[in-house]
Parts: sequence; C-alpha cells; structure tokens
Amino acid sequence: MALYSGLEILKAAREGKYGVGAFNTNDMEITQSILEAAEEKRSPVLLALSEGAIKYGGRPLIDMVIHEAKVASVPVAVHLDHGSSYESCMQCIRWGFTSVMIDKSHEDEATNTKETARVVEAAHAVGVSVEAEIGRLGGIEEHVVVSEEDAVLTKPDEAARFMKNTGADFLAVAIGTSHGPNKGKGRPFIYHDRIVEIANLIPHPLVMHGASGVPQTLVERFNAAGGVLKEAAGIHEDDVRKAVTEGIAKINTDTDLRLAFATVIREVLQKDPKQIDPRKILGPAREEMKRIVLDRLDVFGSAGKA
Ligand code: 13P
Repeated sequence: MALYSGLEILKAAREGKYGVGAFNTNDMEITQSILEAAEEKRSPVLLALSEGAIKYGGRPLIDMVIHEAKVASVPVAVHLDHGSSYESCMQCIRWGFTSVMIDKSHEDEATNTKETARVVEAAHAVGVSVEAEIGRLGGIEEHVVVSEEDAVLTKPDEAARFMKNTGADFLAVAIGTSHGPNKGKGRPFIYHDRIVEIANLIPHPLVMHGASGVPQTLVERFNAAGGVLKEAAGIHEDDVRKAVTEGIAKINTDTDLRLAFATVIREVLQKDPKQIDPRKILGPAREEMKRIVLDRLDVFGSAGKA
C-alpha cells in the first residue's frame, strides 16, 4: 500500500471523532510492535521519527520504517516529530516522509508563523502534511528544554490566527501535558476547557503531545527489576478519551513504549543472567510494546477504522 499523508488519516479522525496514535520509533522491534498492533486492530497509525531517532538510526532506520509502513495492510503515515528547521523538514520529505512537524513554538508568534508557512508551502507542493505548534508544552523536547513554570497554554485566538496565516494542516496544542514519565506535578493533567475553546475556532485535527499513560504496573515492575523511576505519572485514559471527543485527533506516545521496552529487558536479564542472545532479550520487549499499543488503540477509538 502507498503511504498515506498525515492529513488523510487525521482529517477522517477529527471528523469521525476518534483518535489516531502517533508512536515514536527508533528501531526494528519498536516499528514491528506498532505495526503488528495496528494491523491486528485494523487501525490507521502514524510512525513518528524524531531528529534524535534519525541521528541514531540514519538511513537504515528510515528506509526500514518507510518500507514496513508501505507493506502494512492499514493506512500508515511516516512523520517527523518536532522538526527543528526548514532544512530538517525538507530532508525528511526527500527521504519519503508523508508528514512533518515544524516546531518553532519557542519563537515569537511572528517568527513561528513565518517559519511554519515556509515549510507548509514546500511540503504542500509535494502532498506532504504539516503539523505546527503554538503555546509551550512543559517537559523535555529534544531541541528545546522548557521548564514547567515557563509552560504556556495555547491561546485559542492566537491559534486560530496562526492556522489561518500558516496554512498548517494540524496543530499541536499546549493543554497541560508534558513529555516524559513525570507529568502533572499536582496540576490538572489536561485543561479540557481549553481544548474545547480551541476546537470551536479551529476545524483542523488537534494534536496531543505528552499523552503517555505511564502505567503504574509497569513502573512498579521497572523499579522491582532494579530501575529507578520516582513520581512517575501519566495521563489517565479517561482524560484521553474525553480529549478525543473534544477535537484531539492525533495522540503522541513515546514514553509508554520506552518504559515497556526497558522494563522487560531488565526483567529478562535479571531472571536469566546467562542470556546473551539479542532475540531472547529484544523479542519479549517487542511483545510488551505491542500489548501497550493494542491497549492504546482501543483507548483512542481507532480500532476498526482502517
Ligand atoms: P510521551 O512522552 O508522553 O510519550 O509523549 C511523546 C510525544 O509527545 C512525542 O512528541
């Protein structure tokens, strides 16, 4: 199957009021876990590569991901997560990505608008979709560290103006979530009213970054196997379900897969200290990640939509 553009998948999601998972991948096992789950659930999906993932895996990773996405039996878009520059987005488009995010959310609105519009013009000329961001997510993004205090929620009027002036296809909104395994810090995790206010002004698919659930059972297993994760907390799945009814169409998940991967590898090696076969170590991690993706696709409501 040819790759889908991000917008083809996400427009149907916003209209049909279901969420589509954008799962970050860095290697073959993660990619397989995502696609196997998506095929089992008959769910469209986005495979997201960050600039860090691209630096880590290079062309072998990119070519493998695009190939696996093309042979999948469900609609798949290959997406650049948090592109930091025009050049980075253009490089990914040349490699065959069908969706790119340009993230200039740490710049002022005028610069963010100008840089985003530039990417949109070039990407649209070749049928590639563009995600943009306005407002600031808390937590860690790869090329910009935003402290919790600096995090500013997306302002609806600014967001509407930004989408009109840039022509971007979908919008990442700052609504209280943050990347990584330590979300919230006692504040409400999601400002639902804010999603509704934004969605009333913007018909485009909205994107929730930092959406991982950080399952406590996994955190406990991780710590029991010698890991150290303190005060780990994620977004409750009821909040994700509600956000989808409010206009969120793309839901990003990275941390949950990392946690599943690292937990199982710790457990396998602890239980069997003589184990040296990569397949016996990575295979169970792949299974656990697949279980996570299967669960998430049910929560998002995209099962059966492919
Ligand atoms: P999590 O850290 O919650 O998985 O979010 C990932 C993300 O938003 C990637 O852009």
